[in-house]
Parts: sequence; C-alpha cells; structure tokens
Amino acid sequence: MTIEELKLKYRYPEWVKHNDYFGPGPEHEEWFKKLFQISQNKKPEDIKIVLELGSFAGMGSTRLFSKFFSNATIICVDVWNWPNNNVITLNHKVSDIMFSFLANTYDIRDKIIPLNMKVSESLEFLNSNKIIPDLVFHDASHTYPEVLEDLEMIHKLFPSSAIFGHDFNFEEVKKSVLIFSENHSFTIKEYGTMFYICK
Ligand SMILES: C[S@@+](CC[C@H](N)C(=O)[O-])C[C@H]1O[C@@H](n2cnc3c(N)ncnc32)[C@H](O)[C@@H]1O
Repeated sequence: MTIEELKLKYRYPEWVKHNDYFGPGPEHEEWFKKLFQISQNKKPEDIKIVLELGSFAGMGSTRLFSKFFSNATIICVDVWNWPNNNVITLNHKVSDIMFSFLANTYDIRDKIIPLNMKVSESLEFLNSNKIIPDLVFHDASHTYPEVLEDLEMIHKLFPSSAIFGHDFNFEEVKKSVLIFSENHSFTIKEYGTMFYICK
C-alpha cells in the first residue's frame, strides 16, 4: 500500500467540517424558539432540565438547547449505534457518531449528560433516579408505533414535563403524535417541523 492509499483509507468522513455536514439550518432554531414562546408561560431560563431524546452528532438540538436554555442541564439520549447512522458515516463503524458527539460537545460538556441508552431505558433510568425533566424533546425513532410508545412512556413517567418533538412532517411521526394526542384528549401546536403537545 502506498502512503497515498493509506491516507485515503484513513480519511474519516467525520473530518468534514461539521457545520456543513451535520445539524439543522438556522430555521430549526427559529421554529423551536417560536414554538416555545407561543406554548409556554415560562422563560427559557426557568427550564432547568431538558431531556433530549435523539442527539445524533450533538450539532443540532443539543447545541440549540445549550444556548437557548441558559440555566439548563441537557440530558442527551442516543443509542449512537442505530443502524441508520451507518448511512451517514458511510463505511465507518457506527459508533463513530458517538465520538463525533463527544468532540462536538466538548465546549459544553459541563452542561450536558450523555446517556448511551435506548429511549425506553433512559426514561426508566431517570424515573428510578427521581429526575424529572422540565422539557422533553423527542427526535429519536421516526417510526410508528415506536414514537407512539415513546410518547406514552414519557407521559406516564413524567406527566408534568412539557413535550416537544421534531419532524412532524414525517408521516409516521405525525400519525404517532396524532394518536397519542387523541388517546389523552390533548391538542397539538406546530411550527415549521416542530411539534408541541398541549396537555
Ligand atoms: C434525527 S436523529 C437526531 C437529530 C438531533 N436531534 C439533531 O438535532 O441533530 C435521530 C437519532 O435518534 C437515535 N435513536 C433512534 N431511535 C432511538 C431509540 N429508540 N433510542 C435512542 N436513540 C434512538 C439515532 O441513533 C439518531 O442519532
């Protein structure tokens, strides 16, 4: 193998500038802020614990919340070895996403708690440790009925937490949110692709 071939072989896809590669555009930030504003009586600084379900590379909602909720600890939940992440990391092993997450969040490490767990495990774990989030943001599985199951479990274990989520434009996410809301006679507010469940 030549040195050039070796160089190519070890050219990790994560070496692209993350801002160009991962993370939502500024419109997501605006959508979330707007939805928070129209749905909550609280100020962002009143929020102390955010539970982010689905953190991926830490460049999207993680960064947004760490800025917006200036007094909050963000609990970041992800399995980080989700099979679909392989699509993003091309031919590299899926757990590279967790390294990206850790590298991307180094500067905000005092504000976040990464939990490498499934959503359901994390909810049980936090509940058994008596940690109650002020706000839960769902952006993990995007399939029906997984989203529905997650929402039911969030509501059962943390009835007082505000529930927001992402990708309401995804058919299966929307179906899950609609059925969940119907089950409990809740209504939904949406802004951009973000949703909020009014209890
Ligand atoms: C759309 S991405 C999250 C994007 C992130 N919120 C952002 O703003 O960049 C979905 C993430 O959810 C994770 N995920 C999917 N199903 C999950 C589950 N059941 N438990 C934990 N994480 C899950 C995936 O590993 C993936 O990283």
